[in-house]
Amino acid sequence: MADLKVKIGSLVLKNPVMVASGTFGYGEEYSPYIDLNILGAIITKGISLHPIDGNPPPRIWETPSGMLNSIGLQNVGAKAFIKEKLSYLKSFDTKIIVNIFGTTVKEYAKVAERLFATQGVDAIELNISCPNVKKGGMIFGIDPKSTKKVVSAVRKVCGLPLIAKLSPNVTDITEFARIAEGEGADAISLINTLLGLAVDVETRKPRLATITGGLSGPAIKPIALRMIWQVAKAVKVPIIGMGGICSTEDALEFILAGATAIAVGTANFFNPNTASEIIKGINSYMTEKGIGDIKELIGGMYA
Ligand code: FUM
Repeated sequence: MADLKVKIGSLVLKNPVMVASGTFGYGEEYSPYIDLNILGAIITKGISLHPIDGNPPPRIWETPSGMLNSIGLQNVGAKAFIKEKLSYLKSFDTKIIVNIFGTTVKEYAKVAERLFATQGVDAIELNISCPNVKKGGMIFGIDPKSTKKVVSAVRKVCGLPLIAKLSPNVTDITEFARIAEGEGADAISLINTLLGLAVDVETRKPRLATITGGLSGPAIKPIALRMIWQVAKAVKVPIIGMGGICSTEDALEFILAGATAIAVGTANFFNPNTASEIIKGINSYMTEKGIGDIKELIGGMYA
């Protein structure tokens, strides 16, 4: 067996394959379809201080090679997550990374503080990139000053490995990665969704109730790869790559471009077993090529 272990800050993962926030519920929903024990980590749905109902429907629209969503960060809130969801997740042999967000810097810090005080959370992914809410999310991830403030505030109150999830809806992604690293983030997740629009030509209405939504899936893969390659040259912290990963070959492309780990997102909706297939596939690729340690592949693209 090849050595697939990777490190994200102080967090050691048995393999580099995770499932992305917002595409895997709270884990339990997927347990009939995939053995959660095999995953490097589960990144949970975004959690806020209080429960949120999300945006009105329609809030999903399938596009060529992708999906537009505008869920609006629906979630059960920190209290119910800790009480009802986390204990279930902790019964599996995988790491639990909790994606968090707030509407203000204070709120981000409060959620982070609360989860830091909770047994069983292995790391925090800071969502400063959701494009579907008026307050919070991407607002913090497309303005350098706000990114600085929120990463710094969370870093001060939270001793867990901290991962900043960046938005691709910016001109220079490396600027935001550098800020996050400078304020103490242990890793960078990228990319979240690209802001998009679809129109029904019969009704002349947008396909989503919120008009715009976040585009994910294979359509965004080349953009994600380009950003990972750019960020890998700009920062020293590890990168968790995501954006349209559906196969072993996709995952390997991300790793070769500079990602230390990867997360499967939209593919979970049409093949819940994707992450499992990728773990096996990476192993086979490494055996075939005589590569003993996954670290030999990280950033290994010849350019
Ligand atoms: O609308 C949503 O819940 C999307 C979240 C995200 O992109 O982080």
